[in-house]
Amino acid sequence: MQPNIVRIAHGVFYVTDLERSRRFYVDLLGLNVLHETGGALYLRANEDREWTLKLELAPEAGVKHLAYRVGTPADLDALAELLDSQGLPHRWETEVDRPRLLRFQDPHGVPVAFYAESVKHRWLLQDYHLHRGAGLQRIDHINVMTPDVEGVMRWYMDHLGFRLSEYTEDEHGRVWAAWIQRRGSVHDLALTNGAGPRLHHFAYWMPDMQSIIRTCDILAGARMPDHIERGPGRHGVSNAFFLYIRDPDGHRIELYTSDYVTVDPDFEPIRWSLDDPRRQTLWGARTPRSWFEEGSLLEAFGGGWVTPQEGELRGLPVHVI
Ligand SMILES: [Fe+2]
Repeated sequence: MQPNIVRIAHGVFYVTDLERSRRFYVDLLGLNVLHETGGALYLRANEDREWTLKLELAPEAGVKHLAYRVGTPADLDALAELLDSQGLPHRWETEVDRPRLLRFQDPHGVPVAFYAESVKHRWLLQDYHLHRGAGLQRIDHINVMTPDVEGVMRWYMDHLGFRLSEYTEDEHGRVWAAWIQRRGSVHDLALTNGAGPRLHHFAYWMPDMQSIIRTCDILAGARMPDHIERGPGRHGVSNAFFLYIRDPDGHRIELYTSDYVTVDPDFEPIRWSLDDPRRQTLWGARTPRSWFEEGSLLEAFGGGWVTPQEGELRGLPVHVI
């Protein structure tokens, strides 16, 4: 049986100064602390019933793993069988609230974890008196840079049942970026061409555009405008209103709202031409070079960092500052 993947579920970031990260994520952005252990913060946004971002103190910044939720424990077992059949090493771990986590490195080098069961916590969505800062609402998606977008896309679609929403193609039919989903939104996982694998960004859904603009005001008020990297603006791809910010260690966070649903069985993926600047920003604003070139290192399954590899597709898309 093919494992039923439900949605993107959490990320574990290594950070080098936990108090500095707490100020950024909790005091300014308004994420809620669900658990605090020695050297780690477990955070969630206002709609999240479980923790969605763990910040772990470490000597170097990077990403430990990215996790997805599956439907049932049987789906986890089916996934383990799939990994066995493909000769992919894996192991079982536990995390706070998550007793059974299946950890491995996908065939393209991304450290991932899958789990079926998690402790549920009090829902904060309608506890408006507790909402603070920018008011992040829920985890939305991740974006991974890879030199083999088509290969990664095919693995997740063929073996884990991901569906294609949108893609960027050049005149030779080569895929430079892909947005794939399980949840019925535009994407749980975006893949963009670049030296990798690295994490490009980790995204939270926002309740409205105003809360995204307010994030800019909050960062400006805190004398941290240099943490705003790109936007706010409107993407062509996904139609989302967006803002990209960088945390104190350089991890990129996207604040995102106003995309569309993809649940109809006859949904047809949207194709974008690589040289169409409207896919990046519908309004025509240029994208800073750092956005294309920088990303967070990923931890290898056996320790150390995954070494980013360059692929055959080189060069920056149009409309770069
Ligand atoms: Fe994104």
